[in-house]
Amino acid sequence: MASTEPIILGLEGTAHTAGVAVIQGPQIHANESATYFPPQGGIHPREAATYLTKQFPILLKKIFQKLQFKPDKIDGIAFSQGPGLGPCLRTTATVARAISLKLNKPLLGVNHCIAHVELGRTITPANDPLVLYVSGGNTQLITFLNGRYRVLGETLDIAIGNALDSLGREMNLPHPGGPHIEKRAQQGKNLLLLPYTIKGMSFSFSGMVTAAKKLIANHSTSDICYSFQEYTFAILAEATERALSCTKKGSVLLTGGVAANVHLQNIIKLVAKEQESLFYVVPRNLAGDNGVMIAFAGTHLLKTGEIIPIQKSQVKPRWRTDQVQVGWIS
Ligand code: ATP
Ligand code: FE2
Repeated sequence: MASTEPIILGLEGTAHTAGVAVIQGPQIHANESATYFPPQGGIHPREAATYLTKQFPILLKKIFQKLQFKPDKIDGIAFSQGPGLGPCLRTTATVARAISLKLNKPLLGVNHCIAHVELGRTITPANDPLVLYVSGGNTQLITFLNGRYRVLGETLDIAIGNALDSLGREMNLPHPGGPHIEKRAQQGKNLLLLPYTIKGMSFSFSGMVTAAKKLIANHSTSDICYSFQEYTFAILAEATERALSCTKKGSVLLTGGVAANVHLQNIIKLVAKEQESLFYVVPRNLAGDNGVMIAFAGTHLLKTGEIIPIQKSQVKPRWRTDQVQVGWIS
């Protein structure tokens, strides 16, 4: 508490995870989260929102019990304003507004994608990296230029995490499929043929999911997992290499839920090395959605005075990374 940095409460709730954290500069005072796992199929937005509604009071209670100081020491309330599932975003915004009013502290509306980037910039030495952001809802190559995070390339249809989860469901693997596919892939031996789609620095995964699903009847789960990872990660590596060679950035930052995948980490590390760049990845326990990243990004908003009044705090389900004016990087 000796630090002069502001103390920020961060609330994450764009989809499946309710995350609450209190940070101060790079220090994490408390961090709690709870994740919704649908009984079957994908995530139903209304059901996920109901889950968040139940979890936020529990998590907030835990957080406030852990803090060594009173909640009135908190300087700002940051929340994930978008992008994400409408019902989940509205639940999270309602909680954030209530706390902001109760504590009489400024409200800070954070872009979830930029929060994944700012997490990496805060807890790794990456300062001005080329970012490969890989998650369930997004897959983007991002870098900072002239006041904004620019999207150099991105998926033209579904995100890499969504592709992994969708294929996992079809193979009856538990949700989310990503980590299970990672494990099964280690036993794979035969590389099966799949369609490879890349256009400049953008790419597509949905055709590959359809093709992989057709292999299920005649091939082992491990060979399908192995092949799917090899193809999708090769696409991500090719796009990253192209972006690195264009931008000549000195570092690559891998962030988002899929950044937990060790095989992907190794491939991108190799790409970075060949382009004479340093490689950084967010730690596994903070790769997925969490309140810490929202609080880190919120710190920047508070420092640049980007406080939102309650009446202008509507959620933004389709808020893009490159729509945010970034005032905290010169
Ligand atoms: P966003 O709004 O950023 O898209 P999200 O809702 O996808 O967020 P995250 O927690 O950032 O949430 O990412 C979740 C994704 O990460 C899921 O698709 C999951 O399968 C994937 N994932 C988690 N661990 C691994 C892993 N070890 N290998 C591959 N994918 C993983
Ligand atoms: Fe995320």
